[in-house]
Order: sequence, then C-alpha cells, then structure tokens
Amino acid sequence: MSATSNLKEDHLIVRRIRNIAKGYAEIIYSSNSVPVDDVKKVLILIEVFIDAYHHCKEECSYFPVVNGTMLEDEAKALAIEHELGRRIARMLNSNLDLWLRDGSNSEPVARMLKAYVEYLDVHMDREERFFLSYDASVNEHEQEQVMDAFDAIRKERMDDARLNSMLSMLDELEGSLARMKESVVGKEEGMEQEGK
Ligand SMILES: [Fe+2]
Ligand SMILES: [Fe+2]
Repeated sequence: MSATSNLKEDHLIVRRIRNIAKGYAEIIYSSNSVPVDDVKKVLILIEVFIDAYHHCKEECSYFPVVNGTMLEDEAKALAIEHELGRRIARMLNSNLDLWLRDGSNSEPVARMLKAYVEYLDVHMDREERFFLSYDASVNEHEQEQVMDAFDAIRKERMDDARLNSMLSMLDELEGSLARMKESVVGKEEGMEQEGK
C-alpha cells in the first residue's frame, strides 16, 4: 500500500468523525442543550485519532518528503491548516467547560463543532487534491520509506487496542445520534398529530 492510500484510508475515519460532529452541532442547535459525554467523546476522537495520529503522520513523515520541490509550499500550507484545527478543538474544549460550569449557553459548543466540520471540509478537499500531485512526484521507493515511518507512528500512537476503542466509540456515537434524530422526528410527528 502506498503512503497516500494509507492516508486516504484514515480520511474515511476522519469523515465519519466529521459527520458525527455535524450531527451533534445540529442536535445542540435544535435542543439548546449539550449531551456532554458524547461531545467529550467527539473531542477524544479529534485529539487522539485526527490530531495526535493522522496529522502527525502527515507532518512528521509524509509532507517533509516534498521539501525542496514545487510541492513544498502547499505541504506547509496544509500543516498550517492543522494549527487552525487544533485551535478550534481547544475552543470547543473550553466552551464545553463553560457549559459544564453554568449550563446557560449551548450555542458556543455547537458553533465550535460546526467550525471544526467546516475546517475539515476545506482541509480534506485541499489535501486530497495535494495527494494527486504527490503521487505524480513521489516514487514508490520514497512512499515505502514513508510507510515505514507510518508503521513506527502507529506502534507508538495507535496500537490495535487503541484503534479498536476509537472505532467502537465511533459506532457508539453514530448509534446515539441516530436514536436522538429518531426521537426528534417522533416528537415532531406527535406535535403534528396533536395539531390536527
Ligand atoms: Fe491534513
Ligand atoms: Fe489528512
């Protein structure tokens, strides 16, 4: 497997996290309340899978291969975008703390979840265009060396047990979002029936 295909596989998981963050932003906007434990899990997925693992693979070994080539500036720009993602995640964390303290305003939590989704949409589209140029200029042997570095990062930061716990957290959150959405639809239908 090439290093690029490996990152594309990570992106499938990142997109699931993105969809969950979007779903919780919508639930919070419509309910004016924050399902705290679930949002904490979204933050764990962002911090552990996206930032500490996936962004690290890109920054520590994938991007540096194009240093000194025409792709260097674009790789640097993508790494700078990661900083934006980190900043939004920190603000989500502190807005969640504020909500835990006084429970008066859920909107900033929803806003930061939405901002993170928007960051991911822009960043991943740009990065997937970068992948095409990368594959055109980084040969198989260099990609194999990047894969060796990815294996070392995986051993250190995402062993099988941790990956499985990330994936079951994802399943769990997708399940509870689906249930919450069903109950919102159920309530709306009930209100419609009463109005008839
Ligand atoms: Fe990235
Ligand atoms: Fe990425």
